[in-house]
Amino acid sequence: ISNARAVRVDSPLSSVPSEAVDIDWDALGFGLVHTDYMYTMKCSLGGNFSNGELVPFGNIEINPSAGVLNYGQGLFEGLKAYRREDGNILLFRPKENATRMMMGAERMCMPSPSVDQFLQAVKATVLANERWIPPPGKGSLYIRPLLMGTGSILGLGPAPEYTFLIYVSPVGNYFKEGLSPINLLVETDMHRACPGGTGGVKTIGNYAAVLKAQGAAKAKGFSDVLYLNSVNKKLLEEVSSCNIFVVKGNTISTPEIEGTILPGITRKSIIDMARDQGFQVFEKPVTVDELLEADEVFCTGTAVVVSPVGSITYLGKRVTYGSGGVGVVSQRLYSELTRLQMGLVDDKMGWTV
Ligand code: COI
Repeated sequence: ISNARAVRVDSPLSSVPSEAVDIDWDALGFGLVHTDYMYTMKCSLGGNFSNGELVPFGNIEINPSAGVLNYGQGLFEGLKAYRREDGNILLFRPKENATRMMMGAERMCMPSPSVDQFLQAVKATVLANERWIPPPGKGSLYIRPLLMGTGSILGLGPAPEYTFLIYVSPVGNYFKEGLSPINLLVETDMHRACPGGTGGVKTIGNYAAVLKAQGAAKAKGFSDVLYLNSVNKKLLEEVSSCNIFVVKGNTISTPEIEGTILPGITRKSIIDMARDQGFQVFEKPVTVDELLEADEVFCTGTAVVVSPVGSITYLGKRVTYGSGGVGVVSQRLYSELTRLQMGLVDDKMGWTV
């Protein structure tokens, strides 16, 4: 990474551009917009991360034999910053991302930044790119922390050096459907994860593994794919980029976290919010039959927020939910979550920073 214009994070940033950015905030989707700065910090195997710095956003230089390129030794996180009407900037549960990255690093034999280092780095990166945070109600600044084995390693083993990097991009809705319900295809042949594998951590390979089934589903007009348990194909796991919930009456169920499912921070927040609203929420094995007989289905994730599901197709049979519009439970939870994230309601849980 070029150090030519690096700024140490413990010294004040004198050169944050403040001119308004030339961007159509109403046309934001979930695509990369280049911003001003990214954050980078290095560490050797067995050492501790130190000397993080902000550098101009751009390409990084990496040895072809880096662990991340050859053996997939890499993790990522995703969180968002929202701009409030009063100009303040809110992060949603960033400590949860920091601890999830530490958990994943342990599984992937990587050192990780401490929770404090992670939080400092996120705050510094957001402030350095403040002009890219969309105005209230127009979207958010998506924050993408990466942890990767950047040291050279030819024989299989943990890389000798690691890089923690954060870049950001203003984003709008994840799915092209916007806030309209998405249409999911249940994948019965390919699996995302297996017991004892890495499905429960946010390692980069989990996401490459879904591309084939996702691509095939998209080519048939579906929004995305819902994966099944690789041992018991009657049980649900998750969608390529988000967790799944099924609603029946006053009961909401989501597959339990048992190693193959990503412990989503939005998932966890929605479970607490739904309980607080009087729903009975179960984290348990959820069957395909429960899915097909549900009143309502929705997905949760940082990128997708709360996305209502309009239809599920399983072995050629299509089931549609409600009248095709957004279900009342999804709507209610979406609204409560986003109002909290945007600072429009009292944060009695203390989730925003
Ligand atoms: C997120 O929701 O932040 C994710 O990491 C999913 C990603 C595939 C966009």
